[in-house]
Amino acid sequence: MQIVLIPGDGIGPEVTDAVKKVVAASGVKIDWIIGPAGLDAAAQYGDPLPESTLDLIRKHRVALKGPCTTPVGKGYRSINVKLRQSLDLFASVRPVKTLEGVKTPFEDVDLIVVRENTEGLYAGLEHQVIPGVIESLRVITRAAAERIVRYAFELSRNQGRHRVTFCHKADVMRMSDGLFLKCAREVADEFPFIDFNEMLIDNVCLEIVQDPTKFDVLVMENLFGDVISDLCAGLVGGLGVVPGANLGARYAVFEAVHGSAPDIAGKGLANPIACLRSGAMMLDHVGERDAAARIEASVRTTLQKGIGLTRDLGGDGNTETITRELIQNLSA
Ligand code: NAI
Repeated sequence: MQIVLIPGDGIGPEVTDAVKKVVAASGVKIDWIIGPAGLDAAAQYGDPLPESTLDLIRKHRVALKGPCTTPVGKGYRSINVKLRQSLDLFASVRPVKTLEGVKTPFEDVDLIVVRENTEGLYAGLEHQVIPGVIESLRVITRAAAERIVRYAFELSRNQGRHRVTFCHKADVMRMSDGLFLKCAREVADEFPFIDFNEMLIDNVCLEIVQDPTKFDVLVMENLFGDVISDLCAGLVGGLGVVPGANLGARYAVFEAVHGSAPDIAGKGLANPIACLRSGAMMLDHVGERDAAARIEASVRTTLQKGIGLTRDLGGDGNTETITRELIQNLSA
């Protein structure tokens, strides 16, 4: 099977290399097709996300991506935003589940954040009105709103989940979130057997840090989803353990929630679990369900045993020691 691998920047090559090793040990044979993206690609091709890399994903349909550095406030447009928009990866899906062995204030968290990935404030439409005044346009379309809410309901149905919470701010952004909310209610009508709950995004933030166990599937627009995804990652152990997927009708790109971690890059300290679990979601997506389940089980065993863990997990190990454990703990 051929799958595109974007190693990315910073700790990207370190964590994707660990994933390659664990996937190989699970018995799934993958011919990884390397797709350059990130700072090196910018230097080499004059574009941090070369068209040739997008073409590779168009050809092979599925990719695993390491994090890419985006310089703040200048230079290139975000690679991730461009990737999602170019391939119409309209749904970001982040499962957030308590992991035994990772100390957090809560037990039994089990929710999924579904984020609209292509528009909202990330549509990239900003301009200077007059010096000192900048406008950012928040784009909400009926088509994208219906599509993402329907996706959340279908995901709930397929995974036996019971409640979809639509998060919004329609009391203030009456037109844009007003349209989104209207679409959400209409789509919810198609799924009478799944509870539909609508909540203001600020209230979601309050309640989710008080008791995340009462949430099931959450769906929202782009910026809210970006923030809530990281907040939820923090509820179960942080960026080093939470996987993610960017899905469209034709293509799928799997990637960890975390960034390129320049503070620890090149030191062999990166935790590969988030990227590995994204790899497990990818294996599940391509039908390698058994290997995906075994990798997930190995992650849980490794965290429970607590041997060889990286520093962010409270251990004194490194990428190499944790990868070794993850391979050893793979069941036959
Ligand atoms: P970051 O996620 O890279 O790092 C935040 C903190 O978490 C740092 O202390 C880092 O050491 C730690 N951390 C992150 N991943 C870790 C891992 N796997 N193991 C151990 N520790 C880990 O976020 P930051 O610093 O805000 O962003 C750095 C760069 O990454 C920026 O250029 C940003 O644009 C980019 N970024 C890229 C993403 C992507 O490609 N999907 C997502 C988020 C940020």
